Amino acid sequence: METIILSTTEEDLKRAGELLREGKLVAFPTETVYGLGANALDEKACKNVYLAKGRPTDNPMIVHISHVKDIESLTNDMTNDMKILMDKFWPGPLTMIVNAKDVIPKVTTGGLSTVAIRMPSSEVARKVISYSGCPIAAPSANLSGKPSPTKASHVIDDMSNRIDAIIDGPECEVGIESTVIDMTVNPPVILRPGIITKEEISKVLGKDVTFDPNLLKKPEKDFKPKSPGMRYKHYAPNGKMILFKGDKDKVRARILEEEKKAKKDGIKVRSIFFSDDINAAHDIFKLLRSCDKEEVELILVEGRLEEGVGFSVMNRMLRSAGYNIIEVK
Ligand code: TXA
Ligand code: MG
Repeated sequence: METIILSTTEEDLKRAGELLREGKLVAFPTETVYGLGANALDEKACKNVYLAKGRPTDNPMIVHISHVKDIESLTNDMTNDMKILMDKFWPGPLTMIVNAKDVIPKVTTGGLSTVAIRMPSSEVARKVISYSGCPIAAPSANLSGKPSPTKASHVIDDMSNRIDAIIDGPECEVGIESTVIDMTVNPPVILRPGIITKEEISKVLGKDVTFDPNLLKKPEKDFKPKSPGMRYKHYAPNGKMILFKGDKDKVRARILEEEKKAKKDGIKVRSIFFSDDINAAHDIFKLLRSCDKEEVELILVEGRLEEGVGFSVMNRMLRSAGYNIIEVK
């Protein structure tokens, strides 16, 4: 299949919407990462998403909407906490897990009775969804296991000739995927950390939300997290990645030392440092992808403090590195 590259003109966004309505697969930018969209109510289209990504079919997809009221077509749930979060964070990088209505095919929800719903703040994303006239299931538009795409060129690299169209839009502002929160329990539980933090959510709800305890530990063999996506290999670059934790100055010195050693041994090495957590979130996937392009064999990365957005970035980095950590004392 030849993939059509679309621009962000009104005409092309309408075309993207039409393709989606017809059951085709279209990748589009959101504020977090690029998504690989399909009509969420079309079983066949959703099956094709799993195939195009090489994604295990028990890993459910997030359903994207363009208007707040559209949530009513997907769930009968509407708690006060949901209202507060929608009011404060939608449109934006927050995904809520709620009980699914029967209209949503089981392929979309990976067989679960719950569904993940998000209303993105990206205008391009919302226009495409709105023009399609249907809710849009969209996992990140990468091949399963690869770093999430934050630029159209990343999607072109992974998905060319596997999907019907790609919107060549802007680089994503946030750079890591949305915060996923389970609203079927009280207090709600964060299943995937993102740029909207536990502290912010707790503050607006006036109660302490917690992290799924599985988020805090390394996945073991019998690992059965509530968010199935957490079980799989994720975000991995081709080269070996090592994450360094500890005092900032000591970590930087140690990374430079390791870099020197590797160079001496003729290993193609890259060291990665960040100015702050927001910058780390924005750049991490992009940098890992550029390491792959340049066939870097060893990637040395400075870790972040595991609080606020730093915790969310560390969650991605730990998994990219396959839990390969050096604690610098
Ligand atoms: O920012 C984002 O959320 C991006 C953009 C495209 O919107 N999408 C994204 O989708 O990251 P994906 O499929 O790569 O990640 C969805 C995550 C997975 O970890 C999945 O297991 C979890 O959400 N999830 C989806 N539905 C769920 C459900 N009903 N219960 C628990 N976890 C669910
Ligand atoms: Mg993903």
